[in-house]
Amino acid sequence: MPRGLFITFEGLDGSGKTTQIRKLAAWLERRGHATVVTRQPGGTSTGDRIREILLDARNAHLASMTEMALMFADRAQAIAEVIEPALAAGKIVLCDRYTDSSEAYQGGGRQLGSETILALHRLVCGNLQPDLTLLLLPGFDASLARARRRNSRTEARGGKNEGRFEAEQDAFFRRVWEKYREIAEREPQRVVRIEGDLGIDEVYEQIVEIVSERIVTASA
Ligand code: TMP
Repeated sequence: MPRGLFITFEGLDGSGKTTQIRKLAAWLERRGHATVVTRQPGGTSTGDRIREILLDARNAHLASMTEMALMFADRAQAIAEVIEPALAAGKIVLCDRYTDSSEAYQGGGRQLGSETILALHRLVCGNLQPDLTLLLLPGFDASLARARRRNSRTEARGGKNEGRFEAEQDAFFRRVWEKYREIAEREPQRVVRIEGDLGIDEVYEQIVEIVSERIVTASA
């Protein structure tokens, strides 16, 4: 059984990842590729509990090191329970955020530095790297405004306030943004950037083109 393909989606909150993952998963399924969709933090029952702690706006006091450790605890569980078994079974895994998020948010945003994150990744994740990372970078201002709107809507509907990150200052998101660009420059083979304020369908078309090429290469 040939190993599956591990594809991650990255970007600021409100960059449209979730919509694109849904569309790509449907496209892959229509072509007969068994596909598993997951997200971080979350994606396992343990991970969902970790996610609640991490995103709850009432946990403003969470130390940066605790935050980073919980992100990796969640990831270790997801690798063991979801990602590795799916790849071993030859499936395509679409993961909404992975270690690049830790490097961008904790490494860049919280200023813990890339080295700490990459060292933990080697140790906790056995250095499992995505085959492809789609980095969605619409305009900074538009994506931030969208994330904040989305969060206040969730609250207004009586849902959970998952807004601990959205409550951060613009300077925090600037650092996240810069770190994402740095990662893309460092690993151009793995990380493909989709930049600018494009419509949902334009982004989708680009993604389908990139993924089609990778599937052909992987099965060649
Ligand atoms: P999302 O599921 O809406 O993308 O929200 C997840 C939030 O968690 C988002 O603000 C980014 C943040 N995050 C990190 O800070 N580090 C990480 O390693 C991951 C996976 C997410």
